[in-house]
Amino acid sequence: MNDPIVYLNGEFIPLSQAKIPILDRGFLFGDGVYEVIPAYGGKLFRLEQHLTRLEQSLRGIRLDPPLAPAEWRQVLNELLKGECDQAVYLQITRGAYPNRDHAFPSVIQPTVFAMATPLAAGSPQPAKAITCEDIRWQWCHLKTINLLANVLLRQQAIERGCQEAVLVRDGLVTEGAASNIFAVIDGVLTTPPKGPKLLPGITRDLILELAAAHGLPHQEREIQASELTRAEEVWYTSSTRELVPIVELDGSPVGNGRPGKVFWRMYELFQNYKRAYRQSL
Ligand SMILES: Cc1ncc(COP(=O)(O)O)c(C=O)c1O
Repeated sequence: MNDPIVYLNGEFIPLSQAKIPILDRGFLFGDGVYEVIPAYGGKLFRLEQHLTRLEQSLRGIRLDPPLAPAEWRQVLNELLKGECDQAVYLQITRGAYPNRDHAFPSVIQPTVFAMATPLAAGSPQPAKAITCEDIRWQWCHLKTINLLANVLLRQQAIERGCQEAVLVRDGLVTEGAASNIFAVIDGVLTTPPKGPKLLPGITRDLILELAAAHGLPHQEREIQASELTRAEEVWYTSSTRELVPIVELDGSPVGNGRPGKVFWRMYELFQNYKRAYRQSL
């Protein structure tokens, strides 16, 4: 049986032996945060950006970082197995305490868990999506483990034969159930601005960086949900899925119903960037 080595509270142990107390606040209250960091060629990708976001999430839930950046690096690198593409999952909860009480206990040890899993590679699979009302809370910029709304929204998409839900709040596109959203509107690559309504995606930022570096017209601005019906292209992005073209939205084709030319250009730039990173050092 596959029993990978994982990290739990300072120890590297087989997954089958990794146990936490039942009164952990992550289990009781969803009181914790997480990160998912891809690794290519055995090297963690955009690690600094992921660690910065982790710190922002921890600060957002008023939890002191249990490890320093150099210690995170060491733990996460230790989990990588060989040079295959992997994703490291890292979760920190406020920890376990004998009483179930909403208030923060005055003294408590956070629970830190991390594991690496293989990352499926391959050419991008065009996806279908539905739009859904964004029913999540108002601090979506924090990467917390409270994912029930995201889970229900993604499941709604799956049960309609789709891969992703595009979330809409007050008539504006926010993000996907587990991704950021880009649209090509009048030839301009467009994504909603950062703020509490969406997670500041690391892949999102890289795509904007690549667009700027290679002279692709792009902008960060609010996108009306109604604009998606006339968008030439719509994509979603995340660390594990990279960039995925949405070719059908709410049952209607996006553009000509095939991945568009801006998508293919960005896909090439993204793969070139990854290749260069793999070969660096
Ligand atoms: C809600 C949400 N938005 C956006 C993203 C994309 O973020 P990143 O590119 O950092 O993976 C994710 C990733 O899982 C997510 O869950």
